Amino acid sequence: MLIRGVEFAGAIARPGGEAPEGGLPQIAFAGRSNVGKSSLINRLLGRTRRTVARVSSTPGKTQEINFFRIGARLGDGRDTAFFLVDLPGYGYAKVPAAVRDSWKPLIEAYLSGTGQLRGVVQLVDIRHDPTTGDRQMLEYLATLGVPTLVVLTKSDKLGKVARGRREKQLLALLGLPRDQVIMFSAVTGAGRDELLASLGALFEETVP
Ligand code: GTP
Ligand code: MG
Repeated sequence: MLIRGVEFAGAIARPGGEAPEGGLPQIAFAGRSNVGKSSLINRLLGRTRRTVARVSSTPGKTQEINFFRIGARLGDGRDTAFFLVDLPGYGYAKVPAAVRDSWKPLIEAYLSGTGQLRGVVQLVDIRHDPTTGDRQMLEYLATLGVPTLVVLTKSDKLGKVARGRREKQLLALLGLPRDQVIMFSAVTGAGRDELLASLGALFEETVP
C-alpha cells in the first residue's frame, strides 16, 4: 500500500462523540503512553519533516481520539481512502487518576461502536513486558473479534540478537503467532513496508 495523502479530519473527546463523516473504513492505533505511537504514525505516513501526530514532550496529554483521512493506493493498483485513528495512550503514571483512567470508556465506546473498524494496531515497546493495560486491550479486542496486529516499537534500541530474543519472548508472553507481530523503528524505518503491506491486506480482503 502506498500513502498518497493525509489530512486531519477531526477528534472525539468524550464517549459517544461523533466520528467524522464519510463512512470510510477505519484502522485504529493503540498503546500505552510513550510507547512511540505518534512517532510510528508519522513514519508510517512518511511525515518525518512536517508531522501529523505530535510527538509529545508531556506524555499522556492526548486524551482525544484523533482521525486522519488517508488516501492510498493498494497493491492491486486500486485507490482507496480510510481513517487512521489515533487512540489516546493509556497508563501514564504521572497524571491524576481521573485523567489516567479516562481512556477506558472513551476507547471502549469507540471500539465497540464503530462498524467500519477494519483492524487495530496494538503497540508494545520491544524492551518491556506487556502491561496490564496492554493485556486488557488485547483481551477486549479479542472479545470484539477485531483483527489485531501487534507492533513491537523502538526496535532500534536493541541489537540484532537481543531483538530476536525479545521478539520470541513477547510472542510467548502474548500467545501470538509470528505473522501477527511486526518489529518497527520510527528512527530507522524498519518494519514500515511490512506494516503497510499488512494494513493494505486488511482492505484487500474486504473491498468488493
Ligand atoms: P503519548 O502521545 O504521550 O502517549 O506518546 P506516544 O506513544 O505517541 O510516543 P511518542 O511517539 O511521542 O514517543 C515517545 C518517545 O519515544 C519520544 O521521545 C520519541 O522520540 C521516542 N521514540 C518513539 N519511537 C521511537 C523509535 O522507534 N526509536 C527510538 N529510539 N525512540 C523512539
Ligand atoms: Mg502520541
